Amino acid sequence: MNGTVELIIDGKPITLPTVVGTEGEVGIDIATLRSKTGAITLDPAYGNTGACKSAITFIDGEKGVLQYRGYDIAELAQKSTFIETAYLLIYGELPTSAQLNEFSGLLTANEMLHEGMRHHFEGFPPTAHPMAILSSMINAASSYHPNLIHAREEHFPFHAARLISQVRTIAAFSYRKAQGLPSIYPKTTLKYTANFLHMMFSHPGEDCEPKPEVVKALDLIFLLHADHEQNCSTSTVRMVASSRANLFASASAGVCALWGPLHGGANQAVLEMLEEIHKEGDDGTKFLTAVKNKTGNRKLMGFGHRVYKNFDPRAVIIKEQCDKVLAQLHVSDPLLDIAKKLEEIALHDEYFVSRRLYPNVDFYSGIIMRAIGIPMDMFTVLFAIGRMPGWIANFKEVMDDPESRISRPRQIYTGATLRTYKPLAERD
Ligand code: ACO
Repeated sequence: MNGTVELIIDGKPITLPTVVGTEGEVGIDIATLRSKTGAITLDPAYGNTGACKSAITFIDGEKGVLQYRGYDIAELAQKSTFIETAYLLIYGELPTSAQLNEFSGLLTANEMLHEGMRHHFEGFPPTAHPMAILSSMINAASSYHPNLIHAREEHFPFHAARLISQVRTIAAFSYRKAQGLPSIYPKTTLKYTANFLHMMFSHPGEDCEPKPEVVKALDLIFLLHADHEQNCSTSTVRMVASSRANLFASASAGVCALWGPLHGGANQAVLEMLEEIHKEGDDGTKFLTAVKNKTGNRKLMGFGHRVYKNFDPRAVIIKEQCDKVLAQLHVSDPLLDIAKKLEEIALHDEYFVSRRLYPNVDFYSGIIMRAIGIPMDMFTVLFAIGRMPGWIANFKEVMDDPESRISRPRQIYTGATLRTYKPLAERD
């Protein structure tokens, strides 16, 4: 590409500039298309649309590459922690020791919820899904910080840390509420992930001491979920942020978008699928036949990805971790055997091979979470905890961009053309 492309529209040539990213991706800048030609582009579900320029995360779906701020995900998974990676995503560089201490200090200082928040939890029925509680409570938390609404740049680090810290407290409180158990307050002496497990599983007077391998496995799950460029929930966060809504409102919208089974809700859907296959005494073969025949609109949950047409690099790391954690905890799970069988068949089956469908991050993460005692309806909540730094980084990028405008897609209208109103009596 030489920096421009020429299109012929209605027989007339127009020249549009191209934009080349640092990893060589090419985009055609169509910002002037409508003013020059009257036409817009139509790309439902945005399979070919770049909605922004971003310096946070790079994915090469053809090669199975994922990098946060230029660091390969496999290297971060091996050497970093969730909190260090969160800092990297939000602020662009790995922290120095002083920066990491300051960031951790802010997380600790903000981990308590305002006592008034307890009343909000009381308002939810026992049937409430924890994702409903999470999104509502993130928004509710913003009410206790009025300066958030018109937050100035210098307040950003406080609000970012407050959100990362409190999403974990809210998640644990909502689990305890659903179980009818008393809330457990965070402990200042514990690190982020261990503190979460403490709030989930301790009892008054009886502290849970999470095993280091469990803490490590969960920290890795958070890290692997920390960002994934312009997916459905992150695009939602950016869309809401573009209206200059506050950080908590934007993140709360991200939680709602994440909830769906085609997105973050897939980790719960995978386990439900595996349980169903197990209950029916199938080893996965019958189920896959139904999927391929599109009987009952079934999908192999945890497989396929809009961007990855090769292995999801996160799935490779999670699968390895899954084997390790189950062995360390001496857990033998028949669902893991079914998952492995499904993967083995699918990776050699024409239906999946021709469509380039591979396991995604959700295929094995649920089995780890189940092994460490996380209930199924909390799986997507844990995804949201992990994704929070990515949402915050994307929010910041929108706010810091002097050229940012409100996101407002157009449409091709396909409804009725102009007609006149008939009074009710004439319509019968
Ligand atoms: N099982 C069976 N068939 C599938 C699957 C699957 N998991 N995924 C895609 N296909 C088929 C589609 O039916 C379609 O077949 P066709 O050509 O015969 O019509 C073809 O593959 C292309 O699929 P699309 O739906 O067009 O792919 P799209 O990019 O729109 O969807 C998605 C991607 C939503 C992830 C899809 O693969 C899916 O539903 N997977 C299962 C849910 C899931 O695991 N979601 C988590 C994604 S990762 C994340 O968000 C964290």
